[in-house]
Amino acid sequence: MTNKLKYFVGNWKMFGDFNSFQIIKRIAFDYQRIKAINKKNKIIICIPSVLIAFFNSKLRSKSLLLGAQNCSQHKDYGPYTGSISATMLRKAGAEYVILGHSENRLEGETNNLIKKKIISAQDQNLSIILCIGETLSDKNKKRTFAVLKKQIISSIDNKSDFKKIIIAYEPVWSVGTGRVPDSHELKKTFIFIKKLLKAKFKIKIKPSVIYGGSVNDGNIKKFSLIDEIDGFLIGGASQSSKKFIDIIKNYYK
Ligand code: PGA
Repeated sequence: MTNKLKYFVGNWKMFGDFNSFQIIKRIAFDYQRIKAINKKNKIIICIPSVLIAFFNSKLRSKSLLLGAQNCSQHKDYGPYTGSISATMLRKAGAEYVILGHSENRLEGETNNLIKKKIISAQDQNLSIILCIGETLSDKNKKRTFAVLKKQIISSIDNKSDFKKIIIAYEPVWSVGTGRVPDSHELKKTFIFIKKLLKAKFKIKIKPSVIYGGSVNDGNIKKFSLIDEIDGFLIGGASQSSKKFIDIIKNYYK
């Protein structure tokens, strides 16, 4: 088992209220107990923006960080009804933000828009979790690598701070469906993404690349055997402290 830093990122999606802080508290508490086995992990829970300031004011644990799930491309403040800027997220206490999630791409977010959002978020010193992934139709047409390449190249700026970008590979057909890629295929895709990042941006550091899509405590073991995977973006299962903690536990079993 590797001793490299691993990310366990929760994506609550449209879930939660003030009482849901109990879930965060429980995760932080239970995680401390598994941490005794000396693992290097980053635990980040991305929650709805309306909960960030409240959870941040209550959070006592340093082992868990809070993130948001999207932000506006516009900076600071302005006449953009309903929008939330990276500045506002930062002030509320977010340290991370998910950008380019397939559920938002489905609503019309383009690579170009995502690029602007990344720039705005990096301006506020937020770390980015950039989601990329092919649809089932892309996969069937054997266009997975072409799609991933386009998403990466057209949404990341050459001047980006790569120390603060995590790539989350989430096949769209796997998000919320219970279906996951086979290990051989997944390994090949991770190698492709990592090589592309290195070749395209000529960076010395190696950005972390994590997997997302129907991760649960049952299939995590199989993912743990793929060394190239630097962590996980966990949707549905992160809404339960037990399921989330069991994923971390089983990863190291
Ligand atoms: P899922 O969602 O784990 O429920 O498939 C993953 C995600 O949306 O990031």
